[in-house]
Amino acid sequence: MNSVHTPSTPREQAPSSAAHGEHKQPRRGTSRSVMVLGAMGVAGALLSACGGDSDNSAAEQAALVEQGKQIFRFDTFGDETQWTDTLRMHEVISTAVDPTTALSVGLKVDAEALPAAVVTGIQNGSVDLRSPATTVALLKLNAVVGLKGTVETVNGTDVLTRVGVTCALCHSTVDNSFAPGIGKRLDGWPNRQLNPGAIIALSPAPSAAAKAVYNSWGPGKYDPRFNLDGKNGPQVIPPAYGLAGINKITSTGDGNDLAYWNRYVGITQMGGHGTFTEPRTGVNVTNGTVDLITAKLPALQAYQLSLAAPPAPGGSFDAAAADRGKIVFNNAGKCVTCHSGSEFTDANTRLHPPSDAVSEPEPGGAPSYASRSATKQYRTAPLKGLWQHAPYFHNGTAATLDAVVQTYNTRQSLGLTATQMSDLAQYLKSL
Ligand code: HEC
Ligand code: HEC
Repeated sequence: MNSVHTPSTPREQAPSSAAHGEHKQPRRGTSRSVMVLGAMGVAGALLSACGGDSDNSAAEQAALVEQGKQIFRFDTFGDETQWTDTLRMHEVISTAVDPTTALSVGLKVDAEALPAAVVTGIQNGSVDLRSPATTVALLKLNAVVGLKGTVETVNGTDVLTRVGVTCALCHSTVDNSFAPGIGKRLDGWPNRQLNPGAIIALSPAPSAAAKAVYNSWGPGKYDPRFNLDGKNGPQVIPPAYGLAGINKITSTGDGNDLAYWNRYVGITQMGGHGTFTEPRTGVNVTNGTVDLITAKLPALQAYQLSLAAPPAPGGSFDAAAADRGKIVFNNAGKCVTCHSGSEFTDANTRLHPPSDAVSEPEPGGAPSYASRSATKQYRTAPLKGLWQHAPYFHNGTAATLDAVVQTYNTRQSLGLTATQMSDLAQYLKSL
């Protein structure tokens, strides 16, 4: 192979070595334990001199989480076949996507991946943010969140030859500490500026009809079933944090663990290599000949489970009103009948029919999202970190938490006073 990988940073080495190791591993069943045993071997060797069993397993867990972080951020599971060979996004990026355009469709730049010279260049204007070549340079630095490029040097010029996407594309953003769209990574935070539909519609491959659908989604939304059932009902990109202890995954509770959905998205949406089969919906997709995802699922899940919902920033809500709002939540609002327990959801014991969801009917005449899912029902949404991820409900029909409360008050005839409603909204902002 004559391809030259982007510079190998320490952060990059873990996923690529995991990927290489996996080729030698059996495809199903045992691969999970082989991988865990591999990690245990390393951690165990390091610790056998200095620790007992509990140190050992804590170190193993930490190693697994770290491995999962690398996968979440940098692993494409071989999905370059979709984004490069089919969609030809490497050509689109190289010719038409300068950094200004990239930022305008919500792509984020990891400031910590930028060398000092590039930082200075951006600051003094000598780095041209209107040139697609700069985007290629950022991809070479592995600095575009959720995009993984392979850059080859041809006659002294950097050429983007392969590009793929990672989980971080939709489920990470940055803290804007350097400039809008450029900062430190915030993994698990949904990228609500990202316009995945507009990005896919830049590809020459889809039909005009498909492009019209992609362009209809708008920022922060993506339909993770459109390419399978042909129906158009974009979903708000949800957080990938705050899911520990919740055993029903996605807004319709399709999976009992994160790995179920991670496999679904990795294969059927990102185009990663492996197999996803779901008899309840009839989805059965195999990409490639070598499974590049199964062995990574335990670490990926461990990393996601380690991501706590971010607490509400101090001063972002009225604490006295929130205290009163808690009483409304537990009494007059009846919210606690479904939003129960430490994660504010009854998901581990039941799902709900669409008639329980105040977000239906879907906007724009779209079919019920539940009807397209494996369960045909909705999960009571967990509520921690709500302050961070407007708009609300699976379809984004409530722009604010005040709008959420108003919707419940009307749809469920709660008869709350204006004060009760604003107190309840303050409580939701505090969670
Ligand atoms: C193109 C954008 C996109 C990419 C890339 C993506 N997701 Fe998602 N993700 C979504 C959307 C949209 C949903 C909502 C699906 C639903 O609820 O039916 C979702 C749902 C989820 C959920 C469920 C959250 C919950 O509340 O139960 C998890 C977990 C998740 N994604 C993890 C991942 C992982 C891990 C990857 C990489 C393998 C990934 N996603 C890649 C858009 C994306
Ligand atoms: C009958 C069960 C039930 C009751 C009662 C209920 N909810 Fe919900 N709640 C749900 C379900 C199901 C969803 C997911 C709906 C969707 O995604 O479209 C949800 C979603 C939400 C969301 C959106 C979360 C997000 O991440 O977008 C908020 C906020 C919320 N509920 C607040 C409340 C409040 C406040 C009350 C009381 C006034 C309440 N709920 C009463 C079942 C319930």
